[in-house]
Amino acid sequence: MLNLERQYRFFDAPVGIIFTMDRKLERANFICYGCFLQNIMLAAKARGLDTCPQQIWALQHSMLRQTLDIPADHMVIAGMSLGWADPDLSENRLETPRSALSELVTFYD
Ligand SMILES: Cc1cc2nc3c(=O)[nH]c(=O)nc-3n(C[C@H](O)[C@H](O)[C@H](O)COP(=O)(O)O)c2cc1C
Repeated sequence: MLNLERQYRFFDAPVGIIFTMDRKLERANFICYGCFLQNIMLAAKARGLDTCPQQIWALQHSMLRQTLDIPADHMVIAGMSLGWADPDLSENRLETPRSALSELVTFYD
């Protein structure tokens, strides 16, 4: 099965969440929204659950809007799979490279 199809099946997780944001909020609120998502992921981890944030769901905003009755004044931000990750699956064995600290941060004395 294509990984893309598994994305849209929430990787077979028992819970799939779709996040929306009120368009009235300012662009800067995307920062707050990112923190909100991170808090959900940390809270899940603290309870022995795993998550996968999935920005890919935003591409399906039209379908989601129709299916879930999402009002026009809310934008689809992302989806999230919530459940228990199977460490043997290839999608959970992907290791992304990390930049060196010196590439990301400038230190001033
Ligand atoms: C903003 C954001 C959007 C993401 N969107 C997707 C996505 O659409 N599909 C997906 O499989 N993973 C998505 N991920 C999860 C990443 O692929 C990755 O699993 C996660 O960031 C943990 O990676 P790490 O272990 O290398 O830190 C997203 C992560 C973030 C932070």
